[in-house]
Amino acid sequence: MKPDPFFITTAIDYTNGAPHIGHAYEKVLADVLARHQRQRGREVFFLTGVDQHGQKVQQSAAKLGVDPAEFVAANTGKFLALWKTLGISHDRWAATTDPVHTACVREILSRVHSDGFIYKARQAGFYSVRQEQFVTDKERGADGSFGPEWGEVVELEEENYYFRLMDHREWLLGFIDSHGDFIAPEFRRAELRNAVEKLAGDLCISRPKSRLSWGIELPFDSDYVTYVWFDALVNYLSFAPGFDPAPGADLTTFRRFWSGIVHVIGKDILVPPHGVYWPVMLHALGFADDQIPRLLVHGWWNIAGAKMSKSVGNIVDPVDLCERYGTDAVRYFLVRDIAVGQDADFAESRLVSRANAELANGLGNLLNRTLNMAKRYRSGRLVPVKDPDEATIVLRSMFPSCVETFCRRMDAFAVHSALDTVVGLVSAANAYVDTTAPWKLAKQPEQGVQLDNVLGTLAAAIRIAATLLQSVIPGKAAVILDQLRIAPVSLDGVPADAGFADFPDGHVLGDPLPVFPRIETTPDDAGT
Ligand code: MSP
Repeated sequence: MKPDPFFITTAIDYTNGAPHIGHAYEKVLADVLARHQRQRGREVFFLTGVDQHGQKVQQSAAKLGVDPAEFVAANTGKFLALWKTLGISHDRWAATTDPVHTACVREILSRVHSDGFIYKARQAGFYSVRQEQFVTDKERGADGSFGPEWGEVVELEEENYYFRLMDHREWLLGFIDSHGDFIAPEFRRAELRNAVEKLAGDLCISRPKSRLSWGIELPFDSDYVTYVWFDALVNYLSFAPGFDPAPGADLTTFRRFWSGIVHVIGKDILVPPHGVYWPVMLHALGFADDQIPRLLVHGWWNIAGAKMSKSVGNIVDPVDLCERYGTDAVRYFLVRDIAVGQDADFAESRLVSRANAELANGLGNLLNRTLNMAKRYRSGRLVPVKDPDEATIVLRSMFPSCVETFCRRMDAFAVHSALDTVVGLVSAANAYVDTTAPWKLAKQPEQGVQLDNVLGTLAAAIRIAATLLQSVIPGKAAVILDQLRIAPVSLDGVPADAGFADFPDGHVLGDPLPVFPRIETTPDDAGT
């Protein structure tokens, strides 16, 4: 049976500033998962983009004295340029000012409005400008003030439109309880459930134009624009393959893709937007329980335990890192040095030591010594493995299980531990070089078969490592396969035996050229 397509989305990034390493992590993580599933032969649709509306954008543009449209266009350009540098392979670009999206948001608003899910009410109270929402006494700290996360808090009285969130609270609790796979990692489900239990009011989905004009006008009241989160979440529908908001549209393609959807988001936007507003919006639109998207909630990159922020001045610029260390070293580090779901501390020295240990000394060294020995002793020519000795049998027995474990872990989104299997294979192969000592075998003509076995087995191990790493370091993996002069192995199905990665009889390997030069600088992490 053909597997479901894999429809993967990321959060759409706010365009009130430039991208930092946290934004880059999320896109690389999603890109690695998308590329891997493509390698597995699955149909993949990868959606990412930018969130261009909202009060923050309007304020930042006003500060600079420029039009919000001009302001977001410039910042959007920065995100697009970085995704190009980082090799992000999205299939579609979601921009919330795109007319496709604005039409979709308006159509959906009209629908929920005419279905009775929206009402108008007056609210007076405290309003957080930064979070663009009313805050209640619950949000006050022990000293009675609102914490710094709320930014400037002002008193406001306003008439607005509300979406009947509370009507769906019981449904949402039941849904969370009965869908163990709704959220990965699992521990976030309890966090969400607690938040839903405490849910105390409906969702305000409008902002008066007198206060915020930079948004999508409500289809049923031209004095208002749509609240930025209601607007932003709808991007997952607007840009989904085959989606058409028009009543009675043919949604066959859409439904096929939607059944395999996973939203990759950071932990800060699980509660309430993706864990409450979004499922409830979809439920109100008539989506069945099995059409509620799964959430992959990743942790945050911090700096020495603290949040990255402009005011602290500890923002790490991914453009600069890519220039200094190369795109693939940055991509590798971002998914290797953090366990998906957990937070981690970003330190440039760790990037350097990972790249040196695992890429330069590990895989690079293995490739270099294998190609050199093959060239010196056999003019690069390989022959099939015959009567392998114990060490060869042991290493070869790792091949199918390495691929199988890697794929299983990638299916569970555990990229960091999937990479453990590649690192394990590469170090086992390097140890195998040391124990079999091909330079000694080369001096003993009666050991010719064993020498061929060692070279063929090493080449197969590198081919497997490069194949598995294609999703993580696509550029470098291609260079390695090029030097081996071989195609990657197929990941469409689990390999049945150790021979799946062997080269054809008489295959001639290419010349060794350095792929991962050692990074000689020792960064001062105090600067990050
Ligand atoms: N625009 C909203 C998302 C709307 S989705 C319908 C938003 N934008 S954001 O620019 O603030 O954040 C975008 C993504 O980057 C979020 O998933 C967020 O968690 C992630 N990250 C922002 N800083 C991060 C780190 N320091 N580390 C890892 N990811 C972080 O929220």
